[in-house]
Amino acid sequence: MGWRCICLLLGAVTAAPTGKVRGRRAAADTATAETAAADIVRRVLAGTPTFDDERGAVVVPAGPDCTSALNEAMLAANSAGGGTVATRDGAAYELDGPLNLLSHVRLRVGRDTTLRFGYSAPQRPPVLRSAEGVVFHGPSPLVRAYRTHGARVEGRGASSVIDGGGRAWHEKNAMIGSAHRTSRIKEMGHEPSEHGRVDQRTPPTLLELFGSTRIVVSSLTLRDSAFWTAHCVLSYGVLLENIHVDSRGRNTDGIVIDSSTDVVARRNSIVSGDDGISIKSGRDAAGRSVGRPTEDLVLMDNVIVKASAGGVAVGSEVSGGIRRVYALNTTITKATIACYVKSTPGRGAYVQDIYVRDVVAEQVKECITVNANFKNPTPKPPPARPARPTDFRRLSFEHVLCRSSADSRAINLAGRPSYHLRGVRLADVSVLGEVRKALAIAYATDVSIAARVGATAFDLRNVSAEECRTWNATT
Ligand SMILES: *[C@@H]1O[C@H](CO)[C@@H](O)[C@H](O)[C@H]1NC(C)=O
Ligand SMILES: *[C@@H]1O[C@H](CO)[C@@H](O)[C@H](O)[C@H]1NC(C)=O
Repeated sequence: MGWRCICLLLGAVTAAPTGKVRGRRAAADTATAETAAADIVRRVLAGTPTFDDERGAVVVPAGPDCTSALNEAMLAANSAGGGTVATRDGAAYELDGPLNLLSHVRLRVGRDTTLRFGYSAPQRPPVLRSAEGVVFHGPSPLVRAYRTHGARVEGRGASSVIDGGGRAWHEKNAMIGSAHRTSRIKEMGHEPSEHGRVDQRTPPTLLELFGSTRIVVSSLTLRDSAFWTAHCVLSYGVLLENIHVDSRGRNTDGIVIDSSTDVVARRNSIVSGDDGISIKSGRDAAGRSVGRPTEDLVLMDNVIVKASAGGVAVGSEVSGGIRRVYALNTTITKATIACYVKSTPGRGAYVQDIYVRDVVAEQVKECITVNANFKNPTPKPPPARPARPTDFRRLSFEHVLCRSSADSRAINLAGRPSYHLRGVRLADVSVLGEVRKALAIAYATDVSIAARVGATAFDLRNVSAEECRTWNATT
């Protein structure tokens, strides 16, 4: 966390030892949000591509040429107007290049089958991809849908595995240091033109849907990614379902939804070396030039088994805007911050209408954090460009239960002096554990909090904070 307020400790506003605390406006908001979320799910499901089961499936055997055999079979299926390409059950495929998922193709991963990518797999001419909110040319994602329409990647459950071979990348990166790579991405964020944005050191995402529509990824394990694991960017109408992510290296966010519309991610389980589920929309000038928001997104019934950073995270790349995100029924067994909304001064755009409901989180340090001052040291923007604030508005967290494993501040809401957070509502939030530091609010307007932290109940109605105000809890 990059910000901390150092100021007077005020007493708890209301100390009510018993009784459930609820926000007054919960009912109306809940109904509206649930209707909106149900509409999105209906739209996405209605548009998913269907394939005749087994009929005409081309089965590609494992073997030294399986990479080109799989790609050729997908090309043939695509040329024939659609079809299924399948791998065998109980087989091990060693891949030495990326797989390109084409329109109207279903790629099937067999039961007890592993598709393992070697370290050199993406060492091909650089392709157009996207990382940390910047579209650039770099090593190809391992499974790549680029401008693909109506396709599926599906397995037979958790024993159908795509293994990114990330360990070799992580070892290599530890050797060369990731500092160079990271600063190159950040520099590229200030380059509005895509030409010249080349970075061959950013490791490949395991699976990337780029500029694609009507795609389903379901019922498989995505293991050991070198970088973000499943990334949906500039895409529309996507269903990510029953995916088991198991990635432990640095920067291996589980599921990243980026500048995309109408996306449903449900019933996934995630182990991630960074954020579990991450919602983004572009970085700085590069992100503004693309200017595509992430909107109409439903996250439902997901389990974050372990995330090194946020369980469910929004930002900090928000330069295309993020709105109408519904995160319903999330279970987190370990994360640093359960619900994490963040931006960096200069990112601009907005984060609006975020609705989080039914979270149970164990072993977290912080429960809910909204931070407009996330320290992500970006090289300074050229002085001619003003530092743009992000407009945070209407953020709602309802029925959230966190068990904190550290004496960190349980709830943190921090805007900017020149740009307040507006309309933040916490209803029926409970933080259990030895939590003394309950709550901090800075530069925020129209904040309502019905929460219990440790033994202390808070009932704040429409408060504003010009400076930083903090509240402690009794334990
Ligand atoms: C919440 O999600 C979990 C994990 O997917 C699932 O087991 C549970 O049934 C869901 N709860 C409800 C009320 O749908
Ligand atoms: C909260 O207070 C602000 C001004 O202090 C007012 O504009 C806003 O309408 C109030 N909101 C509610 C829900 O009462």
